[in-house]
Amino acid sequence: TEYDLIIVNGVVVTESETNEYDIAVKDEKVAKVAPRGELRDAKAARTIDAEGGYVMPGGVDAHVHLDEPPLFGKGSTADNYETGSRSAVCGGTTTMVTFAPQKKTEDSLLDTLRDTHTRAKDTCYIDYSFHVIVGNPSPNALSEFKTLREEGISSLKIYMTYEALQLHDGQILDVLLEARNQQITTMIHAENGQVIDWMTAQLEKRKLFAPKYHGPSHPPMAEIEATHRAICLSEFMDTPILIVHVSTPSSAAQIKSAQDRGLPIYAETCPQYLFLTKKDLDQPGFEGAKCVCSPPPRESEADCDAIWTGLENGTFTVLSSDHCPFRYNDNVTGKQTCITDEYPQGHFKYIPNGCPGIETRLALTLSADRLNVQKFVEVTSSNPAKLYGLWPRKGALVEGESDADINIWYPPGKMKEYTLTNEMLHHNVDYTPFEGRNVKQWPRYTILRGKLVWDKDGGGLLGEKGYGRFIKRGASALAGPRKQGEWELPL
Ligand code: URP
Ligand code: ZN
Ligand code: ZN
Ligand code: ZN
Repeated sequence: TEYDLIIVNGVVVTESETNEYDIAVKDEKVAKVAPRGELRDAKAARTIDAEGGYVMPGGVDAHVHLDEPPLFGKGSTADNYETGSRSAVCGGTTTMVTFAPQKKTEDSLLDTLRDTHTRAKDTCYIDYSFHVIVGNPSPNALSEFKTLREEGISSLKIYMTYEALQLHDGQILDVLLEARNQQITTMIHAENGQVIDWMTAQLEKRKLFAPKYHGPSHPPMAEIEATHRAICLSEFMDTPILIVHVSTPSSAAQIKSAQDRGLPIYAETCPQYLFLTKKDLDQPGFEGAKCVCSPPPRESEADCDAIWTGLENGTFTVLSSDHCPFRYNDNVTGKQTCITDEYPQGHFKYIPNGCPGIETRLALTLSADRLNVQKFVEVTSSNPAKLYGLWPRKGALVEGESDADINIWYPPGKMKEYTLTNEMLHHNVDYTPFEGRNVKQWPRYTILRGKLVWDKDGGGLLGEKGYGRFIKRGASALAGPRKQGEWELPL
């Protein structure tokens, strides 16, 4: 047969167009994208009828924590590479970029990278790569950036908070300079760690320990100040940064104004900041712990609206899950992991930071019906591929170039709306912060390098553990430094 697979009667949506195209797949690649009906006489091993549903490039989730040591509170991530990538594929994500975290006490990034490769090897359902987290920018670690690039790693993450990871500004400049030299994109967690520690002490003095006080312990000001500082440091070093998980409208406004000045400042937001607010943290008993992430869900719907607006107007380059899963009840003890002898009712500062969301990211966002569908593809698939050096292999449907990673959604009226429950999901987490939300859409079929890996009405998960491959990444396809050549000391 001529092709391995043909998808007919779909409405193909990429970041740049929406059209009635049929798609032919051969040897794991998109072989042909042709006007509807044109492949009528072509032969294929299999044909899928999209019945008028959207056909999009598979989801690229560029912010995922799997199998990390405890760095963000008490408790280790609940998902390993197997369960996390399984959850991903069941929600239409075909590529993930997870973290290889270097601790403060470690000197080598290459060792960290090797360890992380071991954790992921032969266990992933989807394609994957890693960002390194630089916890210790020692001379040795900085000297390894060049080798990282050769190993296909073109991005790193640094933190302005968390005792275990926080860098001071001089260290950040060290990282930015070497990242600039090696064409590495620097992701920054922009919250002021000292403000958070100070607010935590204030709350403790007043004996305020409930989960909801995670909110005031991470005030918007801590994010706004750190965002400003990150932009200043990036402008000074003339090197691109991506500010991760932006939650406040004022941070978004600062980012937009930096972008309007032509700076290579990129930004990410996450479904948490579109759908959750302070109310979700303020639940009876310990329930609020399920929505503890940093930055925290903000004050009101108005904040969520502003974040949606930032997606619509291009302030946000990418929409990632920040899947950072912890169990609510420990598998072994059956108790909440962060309850201690000293604080039998729990203390917000011990609740591990992070929410699961790798499986719900695409469906929740599309179901909300707020983004134009091309914009949806751009922020959930194409832009993460461009920014992190995967384009056009991922995040696109370019003949002969793109991997055949494809989501086919339900045609209008075909899927019954339902209420999301954790039982439907495939992660190793005992809750979802999005329990009870309405979903109108879910990927009906997901294809990864030409293989049908998810068929919602025909057996669900069809993919296999170990089919996912490590993908070497190149430099970002988005704008880099404004001046070419070596950074010059301004004298
Ligand atoms: O609360 C969060 N976001 N946990 C994950 C760690 C991080 O900073 O991304
Ligand atoms: Zn972070
Ligand atoms: Zn994260
Ligand atoms: Zn995070």
